[in-house]
Amino acid sequence: MKVIYPVNKLQGSLRVPGDKSISHRAVMLGSLAEGTSRVRGFLKGADCLSTINCFRQMGIRIEEKGDVLSIYGKGLKGLTAPEGILDVGNSGTTTRLISGILAGQPFETTLSGDQSLNSRPMKRIMDPLTQMGAHISSLKENGCAPLRIRGHRLHGIDYRSPVASAQVKSCLLLAGLYADGPVKVTEPARSRDHTERMLKAFGADIRCHGKESTIIPPAYGRTGDYHLHAREIMIPGDISSAAYFIAAGLIVPDSCIEIRNVGINDTRAGILSVCRDMGADIRLLNRREESGEPVADILIRSSRLHGTVIEGDIIPTLIDELPVIAMMACFAEGETIIRDAHELKVKESDRITIVSDNLKRMGADVTPAEDGFIIRGKASRSGSRALKGARISCANDHRIAMTFAIAGLCADGETLIEDPDCVDISYPDFFRELDGLIVDSEEGRD
Ligand code: S3P
Repeated sequence: MKVIYPVNKLQGSLRVPGDKSISHRAVMLGSLAEGTSRVRGFLKGADCLSTINCFRQMGIRIEEKGDVLSIYGKGLKGLTAPEGILDVGNSGTTTRLISGILAGQPFETTLSGDQSLNSRPMKRIMDPLTQMGAHISSLKENGCAPLRIRGHRLHGIDYRSPVASAQVKSCLLLAGLYADGPVKVTEPARSRDHTERMLKAFGADIRCHGKESTIIPPAYGRTGDYHLHAREIMIPGDISSAAYFIAAGLIVPDSCIEIRNVGINDTRAGILSVCRDMGADIRLLNRREESGEPVADILIRSSRLHGTVIEGDIIPTLIDELPVIAMMACFAEGETIIRDAHELKVKESDRITIVSDNLKRMGADVTPAEDGFIIRGKASRSGSRALKGARISCANDHRIAMTFAIAGLCADGETLIEDPDCVDISYPDFFRELDGLIVDSEEGRD
């Protein structure tokens, strides 16, 4: 149990841990490349460690020394059959992306994860992989993991994905490395493009236009054979982790926070435009590019926020930030409407239900919908806070624990986070970093 006390001011500068999505992809492509890739800024959270363990089980040497992760890649055909089941833990990204790679291997594997992971939908990758010729089955025949994948000769595909999901798109593009023809994925809205950027950096033939991404496989006659080449990768800070401190800086009065070295790829940075729409004082400083990804330092000052509407194509660019955005909307003047976010129901938890239940416990005026929320904010007036402290159950979902820890900073009374250790999935140092920003806490005051 973690107790969060209200605070009156946050101040300071911090770096958030490496981007989770990019960290997974670095291990995967590093393993499939020829030679040694050196990765800096890798996220040592439980999800990315699951990916490392899976590749170690398939014969890849991966070493960690200080801040450098060395991946001794063995080429596209270098993986070996693992002994036993591949444990994907809580990680949907590991499961869906690795499935694309496993579908092209000359051996059989079984993937399984924790209770949350094993209840998430996998048909979204099973159907298109099957169309490509893969043999993939759900052991419980419920469209979820455990999955059994028997590697097979794969064919190209022109796939219109019904969901905007980087995990589905990436699964197919990675399977495309083993296909005999181009793999094209068209999405209803553009999802994060880290796989495309990294495939390109490793030397793959990948072409992107708007909502379409196409990989031309190494074994495709017209362009001839190519390999993935090992490389140095610098992983920027994760904007999804920065999101908690962005929200905190905006809603805790008198605050000023600088978050250094954050990835601001426009397929991830929807939270910045939403905050600006809500009237936030946010500045991007020292913009630069590192390893093919745009990066900046973010300066946040407490702001008077007002409600907004969040819908349509922006949703995939802030999907993981919607819990904290919904919480932040409780501190804005007027109504905030979030729609087109059905996907929230199939994340690590049903985030629509769990966010609205916990916000209601804190006294918020929130109405859940099938695809989002309506939140009627109560901008804090002097002497009264918009939320009141409560006991928060997180269903072991890291993003829920961090969202409500920030809510607790601005609530009247104590907030109790029931399963705080789940932050280890993406941000093991979260509570320590948060403590470091607190200038004026009400802990221990009557
Ligand atoms: C991710 C894609 C998103 C996101 C997840 C990470 C990725 O999932 O929610 O946390 O690294 O590709 P979907 O592709 O299911 O939307």
